[in-house]
Amino acid sequence: MQLLKTVEGLRCSLTQLSKAPSAVALGSPEKSVGLIPTMGALHAGHQSLIQKANQENDIVVVSIFVNPLQFGPQEDLAQYPRDLATDRQLCEASGVDLLFTPTSAALYGEEGLNPAALTQVVPPAQMTAVLCGPFRPGHFQGVATVVTKLLSIVQPDRAYFGRKDAQQLAILKRLVQDLNLPSQIVPCAIARAADGLAHSSRNQYLTAAARSQAAVLYRSLQAAAAAFAAGDRSGTVLIHTVRAELKTVPGLQIEYVELVHPETLVPLETIETAGLLAIAVYLDKTRLIDNITLRSRLPIVAIDGPAGAGKSTVARRVAQQLGLLYLDTGAMYRAVTWLTLQREIEPQDQVAIAELLADCQIQLSSLDAGDESAAPLQTRVWVNQQEVTQVIRSQAVTSQVSAVAAQPAVRAALLKRQHAYGEKGGIVMEGRDIGTQVFPQAELKVFLTASVHERARRRQLDLKAQNQPTIALESLERSIYERDRQDSERPVAPLRKAPDAIEVQTDGLSVEAVIQQIVQLYQERLNA
Ligand code: PAF
Repeated sequence: MQLLKTVEGLRCSLTQLSKAPSAVALGSPEKSVGLIPTMGALHAGHQSLIQKANQENDIVVVSIFVNPLQFGPQEDLAQYPRDLATDRQLCEASGVDLLFTPTSAALYGEEGLNPAALTQVVPPAQMTAVLCGPFRPGHFQGVATVVTKLLSIVQPDRAYFGRKDAQQLAILKRLVQDLNLPSQIVPCAIARAADGLAHSSRNQYLTAAARSQAAVLYRSLQAAAAAFAAGDRSGTVLIHTVRAELKTVPGLQIEYVELVHPETLVPLETIETAGLLAIAVYLDKTRLIDNITLRSRLPIVAIDGPAGAGKSTVARRVAQQLGLLYLDTGAMYRAVTWLTLQREIEPQDQVAIAELLADCQIQLSSLDAGDESAAPLQTRVWVNQQEVTQVIRSQAVTSQVSAVAAQPAVRAALLKRQHAYGEKGGIVMEGRDIGTQVFPQAELKVFLTASVHERARRRQLDLKAQNQPTIALESLERSIYERDRQDSERPVAPLRKAPDAIEVQTDGLSVEAVIQQIVQLYQERLNA
């Protein structure tokens, strides 16, 4: 591990590392970089971020900088725990490649900390008007400024932040989106001690007595989660539940208990889909925060990506493993086509098909979680209570489905039904614009991709397995490249990666490994 104190030194080392050959990156054109920005006093929470970054990147950079800009005049800047020797050991042992520990002058320049002489990044007022914002004026501006600088210095593919600082996370996600920064913000689950207290560098300020009392934060959130599970959706009730539990600890001072939307941070009166219930308290003189996300429906998983990246297999198997519904739009179009043929309607007759759709029921069932062997995994489908799983795969339907699916009225009607499934949540859907157009509210968006070369190689293997004539790799690569271009440029449902999608590069990964990665991401969303 290298220790760097200057911006130039860090950039130089990063360039050298990205060029150096390594077993991990063999065959891949560029090495990926993961950044974990910290203020030091590293603990189990940071360790879990480092571990995740190690799994997902070739090069891992940790920065340690106690950023004066994000501390108010009355806050603990001077006392903030600093222990570089221990932090360094922890990083070394956790497989960090570069440890960046700039001084204030190295990062902001000699004159830099004078607010009148410094360019700063101002987060949206709506996002700083709630939770910690009013109690820590200027704090999130300081965070946004230093994180923008770090992202611009390191230029990581991914930057990792814990969900304990949920407001910081929401603001940073918005920041990279609004400023079109090319790094992905990766939220990480809250690491907790055995009694539920979220790990934090400030926990070391607590006396032994306060430390054991601090478990009340998590207990209070769990009490609200239980009320929520029992059907309470009202902000007033949930907040009251948290307050009542917190008040069981004498001497604890509540700064706030609030319910907001997890992404926009807009205060919520009731939880329609999801709410972030967040608290800040003082125990002795130590300020502690914690939060929980309450969801009234299971998350939606949107999987987009270019042709040949394995979306359909992966989506079906992820749904099966998680017991979710695989929203098989192909099967929906086939069901409509089957009914069209049944009623002897011309596939081009938009009006008649629209009429037909107005009062027809299409039902899809989850894949049987027990039946791993069923291949290809088929969704069971019913039209007006009649099971059509097999007949919609007939040659007659196959030959007409494209014509029926091309009707704008059919697409609009089926989109409505897909949205109705979305309301209930707990679905996996794949395509090219699911995360951007169909379910922009999806909690987990995955962009599944593979290099053109890898997709051509897989296609060649498929052809061989089907005893089809071999096609030269270059020719397959050319047609995949052309298909990608057409898919990105076509007016209907063009291929788009949502800004908040997690890119899963499948070169060199087995289908199993890809599925496990997505299942883990889903579980992190659930446990957040
Ligand atoms: O969460 C933190 O430790 C800090 O706010 C951060 C993101 C490192 C910025 O100084």
